Amino acid sequence: MGNISVKLNGSARRYEIKIGHDLLNNCSRWAQKCLSPETKKIALVSNAKVFRLYGEVVKKSFENAGLEVFVWKMGDGEKYKNLCSLEKALKFFSQNKLKRTDAAVALGGGVVGDLAGFAAAIYLRGISFLQIPTTLLAMIDSSVGGKTAVNTEFGKNLIGAFYQPNGVLIDVKTLRTLPRRELVAGFCEAVKQGAIANQKLFDQTAEFLKNYSPANFKNCFSDKKFLVELENLLAAQVRFKAEIVMQDERESVARIDGKSRKILNFGHTLAHALEKVTDYKYFKHGEAVGCGILFAAELSKKLNILDNSELKLLNDVLRRVGKLPDTSNIKIEKVFEAFAFDKKTIGESLQFILLEKIGKPVILQTGDIPKSAIEKSLETVLHR
Ligand SMILES: NC(=O)c1ccc[n+]([C@@H]2O[C@H](COP(=O)([O-])OP(=O)(O)OC[C@H]3O[C@@H](n4cnc5c(N)ncnc54)[C@H](O)[C@@H]3O)[C@@H](O)[C@H]2O)c1
Ligand SMILES: [Zn+2]
Repeated sequence: MGNISVKLNGSARRYEIKIGHDLLNNCSRWAQKCLSPETKKIALVSNAKVFRLYGEVVKKSFENAGLEVFVWKMGDGEKYKNLCSLEKALKFFSQNKLKRTDAAVALGGGVVGDLAGFAAAIYLRGISFLQIPTTLLAMIDSSVGGKTAVNTEFGKNLIGAFYQPNGVLIDVKTLRTLPRRELVAGFCEAVKQGAIANQKLFDQTAEFLKNYSPANFKNCFSDKKFLVELENLLAAQVRFKAEIVMQDERESVARIDGKSRKILNFGHTLAHALEKVTDYKYFKHGEAVGCGILFAAELSKKLNILDNSELKLLNDVLRRVGKLPDTSNIKIEKVFEAFAFDKKTIGESLQFILLEKIGKPVILQTGDIPKSAIEKSLETVLHR
């Protein structure tokens, strides 16, 4: 069916990311290839919404393969990615007597994946873990690279572990039911990855968005060409993320070169600040990244690092992704306060990932950038 496999040779584990469509009803065949023959029990972690859409078919496939399946549904939304849910997940694993040889399977977006992955990492010091991501963001970003975490009252993703899964299964048809704003958010991350990767991935992403608007996505799934192009795009995106992650698995603090895992944070310095000043309620994370990309590109141009034509190109592609939330009421001084807060929590100097050209990110310390350039760029992007 034109399924694409990406093999990773990470330092800790080697695993496969399988990409295709109509894969869920046979997912146990794939799972058994990833897991040890000793695996008898599966803890299927999801939420009510995703489980209602795709849970039964996944469960049935595992059961047909003779595995015992226990379903745990967490709350839906970022606010449930916390220590309380983690404890409930671990209790659930214990109550159902999962052993070292058993496995947890995450079925859902990044929230489910991050929480289930962390639970799998620490339950009995680590059990097998499979990811079946069902949002675009989870497919191209959060399910690749082995970061797992929960949020605390002090900030996002502050407690977690690097824990690679045993396998990732991406069925693109699950995107048919994804709400438009979630699609837009995912495509912003795709544009981000294209911009820092190379001209080829950027062009492939831009071309896909030209042919298939996220606003009209749902109607495309019966088109074979669309499915092939979507699978190819996701495979290219995943390959790029995997490539970066493999050579900097733990995001070395000292590295500031163009292949550091930190470059994946292109657009994220502003995104985190925007999410914070709006109390994490106004933006989808990827939407904030969309604004962040525009800001980073604008600032790069102001500093004479980036050519105007490339800035325009980025603006055009993001326009194809769709409408981003209105930012005209966001106060610049609040954004600066949020930058300062970010700096304190990470305990390092704040860094901006800027762009010299498509495929050539550079990491700069905020101290090396005139405040007036940051201010003007914020003004241009947020209050245009
Ligand atoms: N681990 C990493 O490297 C990494 C990277 C990026 C983001 N993240 C994390 O990912 C999380 C965000 O993930 P997300 O954007 O997937 O959000 P999410 O998991 O909250 O999912 C978004 C919404 O879509 C729903 N949904 C999921 N799949 C669906 C489908 N197929 N059809 C209909 N609805 C569906 C969910 O129930 C939810 O309401 C954040 O917590 C972020 O910190 C982690
Ligand atoms: Zn992101």
